[in-house]
Amino acid sequence: MSESADRIAAILARGPVVPVIVIDSLAQAVPLARALVDGGLHVLEITLRTPVALEALRAIASEVRDAVVGVGTVLDRSQLDAAAKAGAQFAVSPGATPQLLDAARGHAVPLLPGAATVSEVMFLREHGYRHLKFFPAEASGGAKFLSSLASVIPDVRFCPTGGVTPGNAGSYLAIPNVLCVGGSWMLPKDRVAAGDWDAIRVAARAASELRAST
Ligand code: 3PG
Repeated sequence: MSESADRIAAILARGPVVPVIVIDSLAQAVPLARALVDGGLHVLEITLRTPVALEALRAIASEVRDAVVGVGTVLDRSQLDAAAKAGAQFAVSPGATPQLLDAARGHAVPLLPGAATVSEVMFLREHGYRHLKFFPAEASGGAKFLSSLASVIPDVRFCPTGGVTPGNAGSYLAIPNVLCVGGSWMLPKDRVAAGDWDAIRVAARAASELRAST
């Protein structure tokens, strides 16, 4: 495996859950990240969907010990470069394009690209990727889809995201080609808006204790 692939593998192996975080207010960033880490979730994906996302990432990277912080919703080279400048340790994309893969080659920030079909998985495998985001997981066939892939393309591992809940996470984690799951369920909007970090910590703790189930 390349050095980038090794880094992504090590990050995903810290699962079982990667919180997918949308930060609306910079003031929320550090306490929210602390609550997640205190609850046992150390790998944090900050989505680039709000104007404060990169500033939030910078604050978390410098102030929250034990957080492994990356960016999500990376769509192009400029976002990958901006993520590196902000201190991201990894980057996640909902899909993959030739231009994005070109930008990611040899980049300081390792990329976890997304796939939702067999051909997309094969395309990314041809580009050397063995770890992929499966997005949108539930809308694209869910655990049954990944389970079907396990025997056909056994050397590619996934982090399914999109529609994952405490109710279905266990069935994803039971599949041999799933390393972890991503999701936002432990961050209910009303609790975040209220600054109820205890509630977030408790929800994170429950998520960190999720295990494979059939
Ligand atoms: C996302 O990128 O927003 C993730 O897929 C989170 O999806 P969820 O909100 O369904 O967990």
